[in-house]
Amino acid sequence: MNPNFQGKHKLPLRLGVLVSGSGTNLQSIIDAIESKRLNAVIKTVISDNPQAFALERAKKHGIQHEVILKKDFPSRDAFDSSLSERLSGHGVELVVLAGFMRIISKVMLEAFPMRIMNIHPSLLPSFPGLDVQKKALDFGVKFSGCTVHFVDEGLDSGPIIIQAAVPVNDNDTVEDLKKRILAEEHRIYPQAIELFAEGRLTIKGRRVFVSRSEDVAGALENPRASIFGDIPG
Ligand code: GRF
Repeated sequence: MNPNFQGKHKLPLRLGVLVSGSGTNLQSIIDAIESKRLNAVIKTVISDNPQAFALERAKKHGIQHEVILKKDFPSRDAFDSSLSERLSGHGVELVVLAGFMRIISKVMLEAFPMRIMNIHPSLLPSFPGLDVQKKALDFGVKFSGCTVHFVDEGLDSGPIIIQAAVPVNDNDTVEDLKKRILAEEHRIYPQAIELFAEGRLTIKGRRVFVSRSEDVAGALENPRASIFGDIPG
């Protein structure tokens, strides 16, 4: 499967952003577009929660936005059909999940195959699901982070596009870790979308290859305890 749009669409890439909450990731995408780091346009922001602050953000930036309530539909498939019709109606080429608190059904996956991205606040496949910063702390991992991935039928299980790692420190609270991870989310989500827009992503099996990218050298370790005197002082 190749999600590569190169030559098949005109820039700017048309996005539909799905939200349920505060929308800080939506904001990072808006900021990246406005500062011309991301060659895309948000055609619509759709929320399943009328109280989502993300809607205010869309409004403030003059972006079309609407609410769609699950309770108005007899089934999840009917809800997803309506969602997919709305997105297609806006000519959306890439669906961006930005804190959208619903499982995406087959209806959406078939309408947008490998054209739905999600961001998750852990280094997948560790800690899929909810409350993952707490789970990472409770488990005692020394690194956590965030993952941008394509959405498939599983829970946070689709092909991984980009990850950023952050250290987990001894005195961290859940809020500390959330904040540290969120700062990275805001950095890598617009990047992943730009890579898609530039047609630089190719999927082979589970792996996503990024053309013209650089390998990362070296290893990270946490904690650095200076046992072998490799840290001055
Ligand atoms: C983020 O932590 C994201 O990783 C997860 O939901 C949260 C959304 O936050 N999928 P926001 O609404 O973008 O502020």
